[in-house]
Amino acid sequence: MTNIQPDADRYDPVARLLHWLIVALICAQFVLGWTMPEVHRDTQPVGLIAWHLAVGAALVAAMVLRIVWRLTHRPPPASLSPLLNTVSGATHFLLYAALVAVPLLGWANASSRGWAVNLLGAIPLPALSATGSSVGHAMGDIHSALAWVLLVLIGMHVGAALFHRFVLKDRVLQRMTW
Ligand code: HEM
Ligand code: HEM
Repeated sequence: MTNIQPDADRYDPVARLLHWLIVALICAQFVLGWTMPEVHRDTQPVGLIAWHLAVGAALVAAMVLRIVWRLTHRPPPASLSPLLNTVSGATHFLLYAALVAVPLLGWANASSRGWAVNLLGAIPLPALSATGSSVGHAMGDIHSALAWVLLVLIGMHVGAALFHRFVLKDRVLQRMTW
């Protein structure tokens, strides 16, 4: 009998799958957000803008699943120093906060424009603000600004993952890979 558990220091497969699914959706959201036509008062939600809303709705659903999963499943025990553990926990918390705030602000802005947001093209999601609401409108600006904050956090996070892999040469990166 052997006691070797190759996956004991990894996040569970569902957590890993959701992490990488959300990474893919966020990459798509940045590319769409930057390449879609500028949104004005009379802009219609078609083409790349429709894609931004559709990928955004999928991202919201994936984030709900991820948060429920995270609250009901423990991550693998950390092997970092207490200081690094605190820094990494704080960065992860901020990432989660931005991953909730940025999509919700975009969704509220879409609602204020009277745009429907559908999950998988079939399930209509409720409006987050009234059509024509100036608050919902302002949320579009905050959405765009916070997207930059999210990008900086992602940059720090990916930098840290690569630092662990290539400088510290520990197994932190493997915690999220196969
Ligand atoms: C993490 C997820 C998301 C990211 C990274 C993201 C990123 C972006 C970016 C970069 C822009 C362009 C900003 C600019 O004009 O410079 C944008 C605009 C926009 N996004 Fe998102 N987005 C996300 C999720 C969503 C979601 C879930 C929705 C709605 C369901 C949404 C709706 C919008 C709308 C309506 C605009 C136009 C805002 C305006 O110009 O007033 N976004 N987004
Ligand atoms: C859109 C980009 C990304 C976002 C939003 C993101 C988000 C997150 C979040 C929120 C966590 C915390 C997981 C938890 O404890 O529940 C995490 C963990 C992790 N991510 Fe990412 N991530 C991104 C890209 C990447 C990339 C590109 C890599 C690899 C180069 C990576 C490697 C890791 C690793 C190794 C962990 C586990 C860290 C640990 O156990 O302390 N992530 N990620």
